[in-house]
Amino acid sequence: MIEISGLFKRFGDLVAVNDLSLRVEPGEIFGFLGPNGAGKTTTVRIISGLLKPTEGRVIVAGYDMARQPVEAKRQLGLVPDEPFVYPKLTGAEFLRFVGELYGVALESQRKRIPELLEMFELGPWGGELVESYSHGMRQKLVLAGIVLREPKVLVLDEPMVGLDPKSARMAKEIFTTLARRGTAVFMCTHVLEIAEKLCHRIGIMTSGSMIAMGSLEQLRRQASSEGSGLEELFLSLTGGQEYLSLLKHL
Ligand SMILES: Nc1ncnc2c1ncn2[C@@H]1O[C@H](COP(=O)(O)OP(=O)(O)OP(=O)(O)O)[C@@H](O)[C@H]1O
Ligand SMILES: [Mg+2]
Repeated sequence: MIEISGLFKRFGDLVAVNDLSLRVEPGEIFGFLGPNGAGKTTTVRIISGLLKPTEGRVIVAGYDMARQPVEAKRQLGLVPDEPFVYPKLTGAEFLRFVGELYGVALESQRKRIPELLEMFELGPWGGELVESYSHGMRQKLVLAGIVLREPKVLVLDEPMVGLDPKSARMAKEIFTTLARRGTAVFMCTHVLEIAEKLCHRIGIMTSGSMIAMGSLEQLRRQASSEGSGLEELFLSLTGGQEYLSLLKHL
């Protein structure tokens, strides 16, 4: 569903993404981890067609993002790290806009938009302008839009940031349900517990390069740390343990 090959992104001398290739299959949740500045958001922006790669190719649901961007983007849902929603629309108007843009049947829009607003506890705010929404409320509205259109490919950049515990649980349910129905999910997260519980496969990037990729079991074997949690694995693979020893001097 997502196919990335030989991807490079350079910003001047900085190589933000260095020869990245990966596939995410239908129904799979792929967790993309890495320290701050590793190149995760840059990769997300390239997959979503918001940024052009310096080199390499992205195929989304069979469409080449460079050659058929409109078709590719039609199949793709994005939850960016900073939720952007037109401030002068109300919550309900935003969902109707999403419904129209992605060809959701009018009948279905009429039924589901109030249901979704209710489900995300935005019911009383559906008629209010988005500019009055909190960060978490905007995030939930973006998620409601995703559920409304059920894209084949879902790209998530830190989707749980700013969500209260109940909403975070709901977001997790949404991602697993969509994956069960065949959506390919690509998720950047710093929350290792989420990656451990939700993701079928995990990739770890440092300084633009993918240094490990596979199931949790495969990563454990690669780091030869049998039985350890993802946190230890992550730290041993990204060299974080050296920093931990520095903490002794605090
Ligand atoms: N538009 C840009 N111009 C120049 N450099 C950029 C640009 N966007 C990103 N970078 C650089 O690319 C590198 C990767 O940034 P990116 O935002 O992809 O990291 P990240 O893995 O998402 O980090 P975080 O975990 O903090 O969100 C960083 O060194 C950043 O400074
Ligand atoms: Mg980022």
